[in-house]
Amino acid sequence: MLEDIERVLFTERQIAVIVERIGKEITRDYRGKNLLLVSVLKGSVVFMADLMRSIDIPARIDFMATSSYGSGTKTSGVVKIIKDLDINLEGYDIVLVEDILDSGKTLSYLVELLQSRNPNSLKICTLFDKPERRQVEIEAAYVGTQIPDAFIVGYGLDYDEKYRNLPFVGVLKPQVYA
Ligand code: IMP
Ligand code: MG
Repeated sequence: MLEDIERVLFTERQIAVIVERIGKEITRDYRGKNLLLVSVLKGSVVFMADLMRSIDIPARIDFMATSSYGSGTKTSGVVKIIKDLDINLEGYDIVLVEDILDSGKTLSYLVELLQSRNPNSLKICTLFDKPERRQVEIEAAYVGTQIPDAFIVGYGLDYDEKYRNLPFVGVLKPQVYA
């Protein structure tokens, strides 16, 4: 695995600091609210696992899985729900936990879908944000860090379902997906 990585962008330690900070922000903002963390599988599962433990107020969790028909390193924008949520969203203050905000197509679709189920409130939390790549207007309330336009893997993020188990985040050598 390691030989496919061009360089490390964020070490385990650096990611932990970022996640800790977001956890504090959510703790501060959702005290006394009815927090539901919704994780979008599979990419955000590692982030979700760490984030929920850095939040010091009661939080429920739920998961949904989507697939975005695109292959390779781009999203088609056509989102298919593979696994829906178990919890009825009415009355919940939802934080939608995503690994990365890229074109924004996946999240804008999901936001619209979840809003239609009448939650109390809905905000986006993304570990990584590539603002240069945005194609639809969407902003996250909580952003771990902005990154330049490079394809990254590790800490849950995959290329072709691989590299999710890397504990750090790295840039893939372009020849791996060429
Ligand atoms: P969007 O719909 O273009 O914003 O794409 C969001 C999804 O594309 C993310 O949830 C990831 O699954 C995937 N994605 C976008 N950029 C990257 C990347 O750099 N590495 C790995 N997956 C990515
Ligand atoms: Mg994803």
